[in-house]
Amino acid sequence: MDNEQFRDIPNLDAMEKQLKSVQAYIEMQQLYNGAIREVKTKLDVLDDEFRVRYAHNPIHHMESRLKSLNSIIGKLHKNGWPIGIESALEHLNDIAGIRVICYYIDDIYQIASLLTHQNDIHLVKIRDYIKNPKENGYRSLHLVVRVPVFLSEGPKMVPVEIQIRTIAMDFWASLEHKLRYKTSVEVSDEIRGRLARCAENSAMLDLEMQDIYHALEDPEQAGKRKTVPSIQEIASKLYGRSKQSSGAEPEN
Ligand code: GTP
Ligand code: MG
Repeated sequence: MDNEQFRDIPNLDAMEKQLKSVQAYIEMQQLYNGAIREVKTKLDVLDDEFRVRYAHNPIHHMESRLKSLNSIIGKLHKNGWPIGIESALEHLNDIAGIRVICYYIDDIYQIASLLTHQNDIHLVKIRDYIKNPKENGYRSLHLVVRVPVFLSEGPKMVPVEIQIRTIAMDFWASLEHKLRYKTSVEVSDEIRGRLARCAENSAMLDLEMQDIYHALEDPEQAGKRKTVPSIQEIASKLYGRSKQSSGAEPEN
């Protein structure tokens, strides 16, 4: 601020620094919001195509969020990284988050495969908590992708964390999350076991519904859907590709 009229303001330098941080934070939000929009549009287009070609929408609904300032600071602090916008941009992959709720387990892998095979999407990380559920029973497919956001000075690759799960997986995760934050008392092993059993039961439900869907599928549509690879094919493609070309590290 070199404007003469501000000369008498005390702590002008400190204030200027603060304002620059605020500006950097707003720019970061704009960038990550752009990335969320890019990925959501890609997913919407895929969902639409499935509806037209296979008479089936894989996506039930989507949710998205930008990580709050408190959560950003908390995660940087927890990991011993410097607190600041530059540091957040460098270290955090989950500032932009999208949750994709699908109808069936097959849909999850199909959506993941089709999205990550698009040329402008760079796969950074896969965590398959469906194949390898967390000890507490949590299931979802987590991806981190980088997507180009086209700004006036050119494209910027921005990371987005995508959680893909079925309605049943989302039902369990939402309630478990609420329960975990509701109570300040230590959760007993008995309760932990009951929650894990609920997760098992809802996983069985997912498999059964998937099976019923296949059994009832219109033979004509079922024939068409064969052009979409099976879960195993997609998963191995996903992992194979990530190992060979994107440097991604599938975990679990
Ligand atoms: P974060 O530091 O939380 O980002 O963890 P991480 O980088 O090790 O990633 P991970 O893939 O394990 O989890 C990221 C997100 O997945 C969380 O922020 C939750 O939204 C969701 N998640 C992971 N584990 C659980 C769980 O046990 N229960 C529920 N409800 N959600 C979970
Ligand atoms: Mg997170």
